[in-house]
Amino acid sequence: MRNKIVAANWKMNLLPNEGDGLMTDILEKDIQLSRNSKVIFCVPFTHLFNANAILQKNKSTNYILGAQNCYFEKSGAYTGEISIDMLKSLNVKAVIVGHSERRQYFHESNELLKKKVDALLQNGVTPLFCCGESLDIREANTQNTFVQQQLQESVFHLSAEQIVHVVIAYEPIWAIGTGKTASAAQAQEMHAFIRSLLATQYGEAVADEISILYGGSCNPANADELFALPDVDGGLIGGAALKSDQFEALIIARNSSL
Ligand code: PGA
Repeated sequence: MRNKIVAANWKMNLLPNEGDGLMTDILEKDIQLSRNSKVIFCVPFTHLFNANAILQKNKSTNYILGAQNCYFEKSGAYTGEISIDMLKSLNVKAVIVGHSERRQYFHESNELLKKKVDALLQNGVTPLFCCGESLDIREANTQNTFVQQQLQESVFHLSAEQIVHVVIAYEPIWAIGTGKTASAAQAQEMHAFIRSLLATQYGEAVADEISILYGGSCNPANADELFALPDVDGGLIGGAALKSDQFEALIIARNSSL
């Protein structure tokens, strides 16, 4: 059975003490998660130390620490970069790769993302691999070809044994931080398409094991509908992950629609 996930992407928000408070508030609710229900906190690098300490005190291993970026080289003269070993030393188990903001503002290419995916898997860390089209592409109705190419160039070189350790997040750029969510039909259509690509490449059984998250203005008001879709296994949450009541509602929504 594939994992059902809500992942918080705090982006470049909150000071460490504010992040500590938010995480503590959420954990204090003590939401009982079923075995395959996971919550991942992808926090800024400066928050990882405290966040790790807070999560270590929590009994449930279903709450997992994540980061928002990494570099693929092991160590060396890469000023400003953070290695996977550094992240692992703070118990980071998952890293967002290829978020559209990194593609857009930091010019991360499919080729670079492929190297990050490979390095993470070699280190036993889960890549949360983001894909998704801009509004222009959606309006030209070429979103399937676009997303297919992103996957082909960054993850489809992996073996079946490797790809089952990747989580895919479909995030239409026009829905990120805009309050405009993909409709249930649009989300299901793209998620089913991604799963069909996985099935063609790796077979049905492998495709069925891979979690595909939806991201883009996911919030408590639309979560029940999105999480009930057969190919939507959870959400990558930006804005609504910064408010404890909203993020708690999303965890509950994901956990109760299993
Ligand atoms: P949003 O961000 O929920 O604020 O739209 C999602 C994301 O960018 O991961």
